[in-house]
Amino acid sequence: MDNDVFVGLDIGTTKVTCIIATRGESGGLEVVGVGKCNTIGLKKGVMRNMQNIVESIQTAVKEAELMAGVDVDDVWVGIAGDHIRAFDNDGFVAMTHEDREIRQEDIDRVIESAKTVKIPEEYEQLHVIPQDFQVDNLEGIKQPLGMIGVRLKTTVHIITAQTTSIQNITKCVKDAGLRLNKLVLDHLASSYSVLDKDEKELGVVLVDIGGGTSNIAIYHDDNIRHVSIVKEGGDDVTRDISIVLKTPPTEAEKIKKSHGCAYLPLLPEDDESLMVQMTGGRDDREIKRRLLVEVIEARMDELLGLVKQDIEKSGLISQMGAGVVLTGGGSQMPGMREKAESVFHLPVRIGNPQKIGGLSDMVKAPMFASGVGLCMFGSETAQVGGVHKIGKKKSSGGESGYNNIIKKISSWFSKYF
Ligand SMILES: Nc1ncnc2c1ncn2[C@@H]1O[C@H](COP(=O)(O)OP(=O)(O)OP(=O)(O)O)[C@@H](O)[C@H]1O
Ligand SMILES: [Mg+2]
Repeated sequence: MDNDVFVGLDIGTTKVTCIIATRGESGGLEVVGVGKCNTIGLKKGVMRNMQNIVESIQTAVKEAELMAGVDVDDVWVGIAGDHIRAFDNDGFVAMTHEDREIRQEDIDRVIESAKTVKIPEEYEQLHVIPQDFQVDNLEGIKQPLGMIGVRLKTTVHIITAQTTSIQNITKCVKDAGLRLNKLVLDHLASSYSVLDKDEKELGVVLVDIGGGTSNIAIYHDDNIRHVSIVKEGGDDVTRDISIVLKTPPTEAEKIKKSHGCAYLPLLPEDDESLMVQMTGGRDDREIKRRLLVEVIEARMDELLGLVKQDIEKSGLISQMGAGVVLTGGGSQMPGMREKAESVFHLPVRIGNPQKIGGLSDMVKAPMFASGVGLCMFGSETAQVGGVHKIGKKKSSGGESGYNNIIKKISSWFSKYF
């Protein structure tokens, strides 16, 4: 497959999405193929029907391939679930060169030292994300290369996943006839496609409300500071509607999407009525829309309340200058922004995938945030490599300092991220 083609494969609770993007002439990403297949293979991030997932992957990939006119062989694949654990770890090294200038090898050593930490046997490191560096007493340094110091310290955010989950997803991808480029945490992928750099600097909570679970990622100072998961999502809303209105789940899902709202104050005074199909073939029944909205709002109060507790537990809530960004299919419900603002007492916006061209209209909805983000993750990882190659070409007459730095960043990026 062309080096400039990036394929994101999002295996969600409700659907598998395959998004094919290419790097356009201006360097930006352009969507050229989209495939989507509903699935029942996962439950709250846990695999329960491998064959179904494999078939869904094949269907989604085929659809995207036909649209794009390319054959997919390697993919960036999302992973999430409540087995994900994340924590910070510090590393320290002393400068060994006489001039005490910090070289790339020192940065490599300090990151290596920070990532050397014992994790439970059944877990594996998924990402090691370097945060700030400290040179002697100087804190908050983003790039210490070339600085002078005696001691270099860094903190890395280590994200781990259960080995069996990694192996199962890897097997599904392989059985579907594809090659896995890298497993990427869903939270991280969504943040690539919906968050601005300014928001990450100022402090932001990203909540990706999927079908089975809601993924939380907190950024501050342009660093990822916290990731976690709440085991509730849009499908819990559907189940509540189905139980309270005594209607089959497929009908509940339809009503939710056509008449749902998460915030009662947005309902007009003259409440409309809806005809709802009953379970067990009983006659349709008329219900007030207000009842539907009360059911949805109660579940959203609980889900967002759990998210709020998690943010409070992280100790970062007072640093969230840019507020909260909601994404994922569950955020497509009308009234979600207003509901979330009333729960968090922070500004809230709905995050659609951005900074993408081509067939972008097909993937502009929040439910595509992680799929688009996976392509972006792939392209940014490879982009540094691309610059690396240009640097190499120019080096025939001696490599410039700039190209040297890019090359170093490139090796650092591909090694640790
Ligand atoms: N317009 C809408 N109004 C309300 N809910 C919606 C709407 N569109 C999608 N949803 C809900 O979004 C959920 C699916 O979201 P998404 O596609 O992000 O999940 P997923 O990635 O398959 O699941 P997960 O991330 O939990 O593994 C479903 O519960 C669906 O009912
Ligand atoms: Mg999802």
